[in-house]
Amino acid sequence: MKTLFDLREKHDGELIEAIQKLYQEPLKVVPMGEPPITPCIGCWNCWLKTPGNCVMKDSMAESYSDYMNSDTVIVLMDTAQGFLNHQGKAFLDRTIPHFLPYIEIVDGECHHAARYPSYPDLIFYFDTIDLTKQEEQVLEDYLYRTAYHFQSKAYRIEMDNGLHLRPLPPRKAKRQTIAFESVGPMEKLVIYNGSPRRSGSNSALILRNVTESLGEKVEIRDLKERDKWEEWAAAFQEEEHVLFFMPLYVHAMPSHVMAFMEKLQASKGSISFFVQSGFPESSQSHYLEAYFEQLALRLGRIYLGTAIKGGMEGMQMRPPGGQAKIMEPLVKAIVALVFDGRFNPKDIHRLARPVRMGLLMKTIFRILAKFGLVNYFWDQQLKENQAFERRFEQPYVK
Ligand SMILES: Cc1cc2nc3c(=O)[nH]c(=O)nc-3n(C[C@H](O)[C@H](O)[C@H](O)COP(=O)(O)O)c2cc1C
Repeated sequence: MKTLFDLREKHDGELIEAIQKLYQEPLKVVPMGEPPITPCIGCWNCWLKTPGNCVMKDSMAESYSDYMNSDTVIVLMDTAQGFLNHQGKAFLDRTIPHFLPYIEIVDGECHHAARYPSYPDLIFYFDTIDLTKQEEQVLEDYLYRTAYHFQSKAYRIEMDNGLHLRPLPPRKAKRQTIAFESVGPMEKLVIYNGSPRRSGSNSALILRNVTESLGEKVEIRDLKERDKWEEWAAAFQEEEHVLFFMPLYVHAMPSHVMAFMEKLQASKGSISFFVQSGFPESSQSHYLEAYFEQLALRLGRIYLGTAIKGGMEGMQMRPPGGQAKIMEPLVKAIVALVFDGRFNPKDIHRLARPVRMGLLMKTIFRILAKFGLVNYFWDQQLKENQAFERRFEQPYVK
């Protein structure tokens, strides 16, 4: 079966007819997006309580069976603010139940192990009309990487004297194309917390420590408060220094962060980003860093840089002293940003280590895996939830 998920706001039939001609068999067309796909909230029930099943009941949950029973999945998406829009992002975030929480190392990077024996080819289509060449490249690199992580072959449908299907060859993100800039010491820094978690959020914990260190020099705003978005997006025009702090979701921002970013307009002042993620290696976040450079250019703001810290998921399992030690360098980087008007390059470099896993880390990982210590974090929670026996469940295989 071949399924086409149409996430675009305007479902024009012409494009779908043209795509149909690329294939010998009829495509199953699934219009999505109205009502919108519910954003992932990072609850991890799909891994730890109801393995393979998402708690949300919406069009995305209804689409899981089609996704898993197709050899080809075509995704038509809209772009916004130089990237895929929040609907496209929600679609990718909500694909996580099809994988296991368990980790494998591939080329020095962590991957989630497969829940199913095979995955469909992923074919992406997006209109390039509102994108610069660099933004198009950043988005294509991101989609390639996501398909790779989802154990799918990646293709793009492009319009160039008719429609063409182009395989996306392996590549790495083209990051650090613009240098970190600096401004003077900041009177005040507005920090947006981009974690969708309602409880147990690492970002919230870290930002609480930032407030303790910086007091009134920072104002933390939680992007879960959607009713304030219009007011905040308008204030962005006037605010001198703004930092977006978020967890990494499928190599990019959580979808509600994208939805907010779509509202921002070009304005004066600085912009900076802080991404913290579950896997230890910072290379996981390079695709997002590449986008944030483009976003800063698009918004015409001074780009102070993107700080990246991996290995944060297990933080809350540690005793308070251990947690404080992990958080300290992150807090220090933000304190320096406020007092010096720039990220300290040495601190940022140190935070981002390891970029990928070297031989030593891979060997340690293999030894820990042999004694069941790598998966201990997940197994423990599965057992507490009486879900351990069901951990490999494949609910969508017909
Ligand atoms: C849907 C989803 C996707 C994620 N994708 C990644 C990823 O691609 N790479 C990574 O290292 N961590 C990933 N993570 C892990 C989070 O970045 C990590 O758990 C983070 O510390 C959560 O922060 P928070 O508690 O503030 O939300 C993902 C988590 C979720 C829920």
